[in-house]
This record gives sequence, C-alpha cells and structure tokens, in this order.
Amino acid sequence: MLHKLLLLLVLVGPGFAEEPPDVDCVVLHLESVKCTWNKHGNPKVNYTFRSWFHDEAVRECEKYITNNSLKIGCIQPYGDITNRFLTFYMQLVHGNHTFPKSDYLKSKVKLNPPTNLTVQNGSDWNLWFYWNQTLPSCVENEVRYRINYKEWVPDRVNRGKQNYCINLPSSRSQYELQVRSKLHEVCGASGWSDWSDSVMWGSNNGTESDQGDGSMFVWIIVFVLAPVILILMVVLLLRYERFRIIFIHVVPKPSLIPQDIEPWLQISKGLKEGFKANYHEQACPVREYRQVPQ
Ligand SMILES: *[C@@H]1O[C@H](CO)[C@@H](O)[C@H](O)[C@H]1NC(C)=O
Ligand SMILES: *[C@@H]1O[C@H](CO)[C@@H](O)[C@H](O)[C@H]1NC(C)=O
Ligand SMILES: *[C@@H]1O[C@H](CO)[C@@H](O)[C@H](O)[C@H]1NC(C)=O
Ligand SMILES: *[C@@H]1O[C@H](CO)[C@@H](O)[C@H](O)[C@H]1NC(C)=O
Ligand SMILES: *[C@@H]1O[C@H](CO)[C@@H](O)[C@H](O)[C@H]1NC(C)=O
Ligand SMILES: *[C@@H]1O[C@H](CO)[C@@H](O)[C@H](O)[C@H]1NC(C)=O
Repeated sequence: MLHKLLLLLVLVGPGFAEEPPDVDCVVLHLESVKCTWNKHGNPKVNYTFRSWFHDEAVRECEKYITNNSLKIGCIQPYGDITNRFLTFYMQLVHGNHTFPKSDYLKSKVKLNPPTNLTVQNGSDWNLWFYWNQTLPSCVENEVRYRINYKEWVPDRVNRGKQNYCINLPSSRSQYELQVRSKLHEVCGASGWSDWSDSVMWGSNNGTESDQGDGSMFVWIIVFVLAPVILILMVVLLLRYERFRIIFIHVVPKPSLIPQDIEPWLQISKGLKEGFKANYHEQACPVREYRQVPQ
C-alpha cells in the first residue's frame, strides 16, 4: 500500500497526491442534473466537468457552481425524461488527469415543491386545496396541515390527485397547509421534494390572544359586564315579581272560598266582611292562599 502511494506520488507529482473529490448527482425536477464535489469541503483545485448519459455524446459542463472562486459543482441539462433509467457517466479533469465515475440516477430525483397552492372555501362547506405539479400521473403527494399553529397532521394524497379537502372547517380557526411530492413507484420512486409554501385560511382571533388582551378581557368582564348583568338580573327580578302579582290577581275567583265552607269558618261577620273587602289586597300573598285549600 505504502509502495503504491509512493509510486503514485512520484508519478503524479505533489499536486495530485490526494484523491479526487467524490461526485454526487441529483436530477432536479426532471429538468437538469446537478452534480457537486464538495462533500468533504472545497476542492484544492479547479476541475473541469464532463458528463453524458449512456449512448449520448460527451457534454462539457454548461453551468458551474462556485464557492470562493472554486468550482464545486455543475448543472447539466437532463434531456429525455427516461434518461435517469440509463447509466450516467462523469469526468473530473485537471491538467492531463481525468477521474471517471458512473452513477445510476433513477431514484436520485428531487422534484420542486408543488406550485400554485391555493385554497377555496367550497359551496359544500368544505375547504378545498389545489396545487400544480409536473407529471401528475407519476407523482404522489403528501399534505400536512395544522390548526391554530398546533401539531402538523400529515395525510397522503393518491397518485394523480392534485387537490385535498378538509371537511367542515371552522372559520374561527386558522388552517395552514403545505404539500410535497415524490415520484410514485410506477414511475421509479424518488425521495420527497421540499414542502411547498404554506397556504392559510380562516382566522384564530377567538382562541389566541396575548396576555395583554387576556387581562383586558378580564377587566371588561369585572367592571363592565358584571354590573350590567347585575342590573339586568335586578330588573328581570322586579319584572318577574310584578308579573306574578298580576298573574295571581287575575286567577282568583270569588268561588275560591267555597260557600259551604263559610259556616265552618269561625270568624265574625265583620271580620268576614273585612276579609272580603280586603280581598284584593289580600290576594297578593299567593302562598297563603294556595296552601289553604289543600
Ligand atoms: C464555501 O466555502 C466555505 C469555506 O471556504 C465554506 O465554509 C462554506 O460552507 C462553503 N459554502 C458552500 C455553499 O459550500
Ligand atoms: C476556478 O474557476 C473559476 C470559474 O471559472 C475562476 O473564477 C477561478 O479563478 C478559478 N480558480 C482557480 C484557482 O483556478
Ligand atoms: C500533459 O500532456 C502533454 C502531452 O499530451 C504534455 O506535453 C504535458 O507536459 C502534460 N502536462 C502535465 C502537467 O503532465
Ligand atoms: C399558476 O397559475 C397561473 C394561473 O392561475 C398559471 O398561469 C401558471 O402557469 C400556474 N403555474 C404553474 C407552475 O402551474
Ligand atoms: C365559506 O363559505 C360559506 C358558504 O359558501 C360562507 O357562508 C362562509 O362565510 C365562507 N367563509 C369564509 C371565511 O369565507
Ligand atoms: C394548475 O392547477 C389548476 C387547478 O388544479 C388547474 O386548473 C390548472 O390547469 C393547473 N395548471 C397547470 C399549468 O397545470
């Protein structure tokens, strides 16, 4: 091993004592191939990059990615949509030295997040979310939503569908939803895209208020609502009493003291007359009257 290393040093010279950087590639949104070689830090020298899919012509790098004026990656066109099922060949070149590599990019696809995510308050009282994604029949989506900034709730959306429905939302809560996409297995599975931007619906004025608003609410209850309620109760009480008086006043009939009981009432005629004369006044204490006939 040591001999080989020494031989390499002698043959290659001090500039190439180190291994060439490892290259990682990903197919961006089935539109371009992005390769980078700075996984273990910036390279020491500028490399020239070339690549091609199987049976294609060699393609010089179209657009380099740089950091601190060093080339650290390259973006190449992707070409035909089925290209990722073919072998991808790469070369890093420095001076007279060429470092080849090949890779298989089938599952190394990263879609852009869905675009045009919109929400519609349906006439059916449901909340409908729509978005756009490339190749809908190849893509499966996942949504996640949260209500009033609580926990995210994830949910799968079937391949081909670009909408999602939340049943009977409460417009007094705030709904936030995001979508992400990946290629379905039928089209050669890929990893997930990033989450899309959020779309919001509703408002959470009712439930969430900061402490200042909360104490204000308590003050309003104590100093405004409580006296009002108290006055209302007093008024209602008075009104109710009056109603009862009138009610009782109407119900009694002269026959309520049956004639045949009169002889047994051990009361003088004067008192009886007085009683009758004062009947209207006596009618007020209802309870007394009600209990007598029982
Ligand atoms: C650019 O290089 C610097 C060091 O020179 C490194 O700290 C930084 O992470 C690099 N940025 C990227 C995007 O690779
Ligand atoms: C590497 O390439 C970049 C872009 O072509 C160039 O700006 C930079 O000067 C080069 N750096 C070195 C060290 O050759
Ligand atoms: C590269 O190769 C050419 C001949 O093909 C040679 O003249 C030149 O010296 C070599 N350069 C290095 C840095 O090895
Ligand atoms: C977003 O929607 C607008 C019209 O509503 C449309 O013109 C545009 O193409 C859509 N964008 C995408 C990426 O589908
Ligand atoms: C949602 O739609 C329903 C019926 O179409 C309507 O009554 C309600 O006010 C709407 N809510 C919002 C927040 O737009
Ligand atoms: C975006 O999605 C909307 C609703 O699903 C659809 O009507 C529209 O045609 C789509 N646009 C594109 C460019 O796919």
